[in-house]
Amino acid sequence: MRDYPQVLFKNRRPGQTVMLAGYEQSGGYQGLRKALQMSPGEICALVKDSGLRGRGGAGFPTGIKWSFFPAEAPGPKYLVCNGDEMEPGTYKDRQLLLADPHQLVEGMAIAAYALQTSVGYIFLRYAYEECSQQLERCIAEAEAKGYLGKNILGSGFDFELHVHRSAGRYILGEETALLNGLEGKRPNPRSKPPFPAQRGLFGKPTNVNNIETLANIPHIINHGQAWFHDLALTVDGAGTKLFGLSGHMNNTACFELPLGIPLREVIEVYGGGIRGDRKFKACLPGGASTPYLTAEHLDLPMDFNPLESVKSRIGTAGVTAFDDHTCMVAVTRNLNQFFARESCGFCTPCRDGLATISWLLDRIEFGQGTMDDLAMLKDQARNISGRSFCALAEGAMGPVEALLRLFEDEIVDHIRKGRCPFQRS
Ligand SMILES: Cc1cc2nc3c(=O)[nH]c(=O)nc-3n(C[C@H](O)[C@H](O)[C@H](O)COP(=O)(O)O)c2cc1C
Ligand code: SF4
Repeated sequence: MRDYPQVLFKNRRPGQTVMLAGYEQSGGYQGLRKALQMSPGEICALVKDSGLRGRGGAGFPTGIKWSFFPAEAPGPKYLVCNGDEMEPGTYKDRQLLLADPHQLVEGMAIAAYALQTSVGYIFLRYAYEECSQQLERCIAEAEAKGYLGKNILGSGFDFELHVHRSAGRYILGEETALLNGLEGKRPNPRSKPPFPAQRGLFGKPTNVNNIETLANIPHIINHGQAWFHDLALTVDGAGTKLFGLSGHMNNTACFELPLGIPLREVIEVYGGGIRGDRKFKACLPGGASTPYLTAEHLDLPMDFNPLESVKSRIGTAGVTAFDDHTCMVAVTRNLNQFFARESCGFCTPCRDGLATISWLLDRIEFGQGTMDDLAMLKDQARNISGRSFCALAEGAMGPVEALLRLFEDEIVDHIRKGRCPFQRS
């Protein structure tokens, strides 16, 4: 294993969570002190120049998002941290919170100052009760030391922070559904525009960022944009990434690795290779909504642009590997069942389309599929992408489109044989 720099996992120790004293000893809250000496505009410019892209899945450049925010507008404005983390195969935010949660609190205090928001919420997955309690302790510790609350470190800036436990549906991770959920409403996504920066929580300007995104902020303030760029192995990349490994690898754990690390190194070195005497067949590179990569992609750098160039996405970097005994129809069927169940039901292409795809994949996997079913599957996939109200259905189509593009021969084999060819009799 190479000795890659550890930034977010610098203080990570098995079974331990670093609380305030340990965090301060490792330089914690120096970023906030430094940030409060800067103007909000200077912080936004630094974050923009650092090249940080959102770690919640879509990869939008954080500094550009912040530059759209009406920091000068009078009245209430909100900062929301998205910790819903319900995408199958994604567990990196939880690992960050279990290891070193004050990074998020400090990152939010800095972001709040940069955007001039006075109230923040951490919207957390319902199942993360341990993290939720620990975060509440962190907030109390930070308030006691003057890092949160009124007149932070004598700067005259006020910021209060709260933890909100999600009701527990995948759609609550979509930022506008999340805002409805925070308001106590049914979590249907909202139409965009207006974007949350214009009309967000309670109709007021709101900035939403992922846990890992915000946790990077203190380090960028402390070490600067050039340092952050240099952490990545790709020329246009920036920063490290938390990779959560799962599936048919020997070592399924979460690692902090440079953006741009080759997929082969992730799987063979950090994942310890494929289990048993089997070979790598495919993987989801960044959670359940990202299109599969195959053996031909093993030397690809794991970064935003290189993965987009092969019609996939780095998403959350939750890498789920499948060995050569895996039926990709069965995998896609399983993923699609999740998305169909989690559809909020608001728009027809998603509500009815995902259910129809589930039905078609059931038929094919269990030996009743016909070539007409394959044609209908293609037709459905075409009619859902770009026609749904929010990105849930678009994401659900990631594995389906990749199945059709990369594994159509496997679908045809199911239909010709009238059974799953990977089933052992
Ligand atoms: C169905 C769905 C679920 C999502 N779940 C999450 C999530 O759990 N965490 C997250 O940060 N972003 C999630 N997102 C993306 C958010 O809508 C939003 O882009 C993100 O929170 C912005 O933060 P970032 O720019 O820091 O990545 C989800 C999007 C969709 C469509
Ligand atoms: S795409 Fe799905 S989750 Fe999104 S609004 Fe439509 S029905 Fe709801």
